[in-house]
Amino acid sequence: MIRRKTPAGRTALFPAMYRSAAVLAAAAAVLVSGCGRSSPPDPRKNADTQTEYTASSLPESEETEGRPRTEFHLTEEPVAINTGDQLTIGFSQIGAESDWRLASSASMEQVFTSDNGYNLIFSNAQQKQENQIKAIREFISQDVDYIILDPLTETGWESSLQEAKDAQIPVIIVDREVKVEDEDLYAVWVGSDFRLEGDRACAWLEEYLASRPDLAKREIGIVHLQGTLDASAQIGRSKALEDAVEAHENWKLLDVECGDFVQAKGREVMEKMIERYGSDINVVYCENDNMAYGVLEALESAGMTAGNDIAAGEVLIISFDAARQGLEDTLSGKIAVDTECNPLYAPIISRVIMALEQGSELPRRNYYEEKQFSSIEEIREVTVDGKAYDVTQLSEDLIRSREY
Ligand code: AHR
Repeated sequence: MIRRKTPAGRTALFPAMYRSAAVLAAAAAVLVSGCGRSSPPDPRKNADTQTEYTASSLPESEETEGRPRTEFHLTEEPVAINTGDQLTIGFSQIGAESDWRLASSASMEQVFTSDNGYNLIFSNAQQKQENQIKAIREFISQDVDYIILDPLTETGWESSLQEAKDAQIPVIIVDREVKVEDEDLYAVWVGSDFRLEGDRACAWLEEYLASRPDLAKREIGIVHLQGTLDASAQIGRSKALEDAVEAHENWKLLDVECGDFVQAKGREVMEKMIERYGSDINVVYCENDNMAYGVLEALESAGMTAGNDIAAGEVLIISFDAARQGLEDTLSGKIAVDTECNPLYAPIISRVIMALEQGSELPRRNYYEEKQFSSIEEIREVTVDGKAYDVTQLSEDLIRSREY
């Protein structure tokens, strides 16, 4: 069972008012109500688009205390149609580095359409924070109604967010987080619990190794491909592995390098690692699917095999995102476990905007629920901090039923 060693830092970020499940439930209920800033919408028009949100809080324990969360079931979310004046939304997207990112951009473009009452200004930052800062300034000068920011990194946002606040434009942070002293610089954050994703992946590896008597005690050589440094997705997933390695005497971290969430860089990094460590590599902990595709290419061209039979020399790959190709590779056994990171957050952002239009108070930070996939049947669940999480067994039908 994976236990988090350091919940520190997170706790202080949550205002005490959000500590009770009742408040969370009330806040989630707020998110289902339709509204409009200048002319409130007709609730009847929205009625058939509404659905129940599920709000829950983690059990209060030594380590989870102060980490309340609202869990949104994203795939059930309908789009919130703005029935008031058309709203102009400026969205600063990080780039197009991964399948995940493309799915996230497509989701925003599908939801924030003129038919749904929005005018979307989409800005692609091409992986550069300075472009995101420039985009925020442009959105301010265009006097948009809302700014949506998916921040490349956690740090460096104070002054641009302050400029948006001075211009009285609410900023909604999505996916990754920003680290700012004054949380009032943004209205709401909705995204993934990247640390939990990493903990679930490490818990899966722990369960898997324990289920194989030939592997339980032997040294396991791990190489780690990180995503863009200082991105929340990198920070959370990396910290989970670092703590898990420290907690397991036989897990040996051979190497860590950044592959920037990109397939070509993943391949390049893996090629170097294979040169350095060859058959000592038993596990690749890869912080997204696109880097995993690059890892698979590197293994193949080195004549190595991806798979779960470590004792027979196969290299076990752990990945994140659960994009379509990632799941296909998981179904075929090339990736052992793929922990979901859901990019389809646009419908919930539309609900958040409608709630803000109504003047509702929302929790500042909101996580959404994610799954974990494998085709290795023995491991049906993993436990993190005393809470059990299902491991979904993959099938072609399941992959086909998913949106990305
Ligand atoms: O922030 C989410 C991460 O960014 C996804 O894991 C990755 O694929 C993307 O580029």
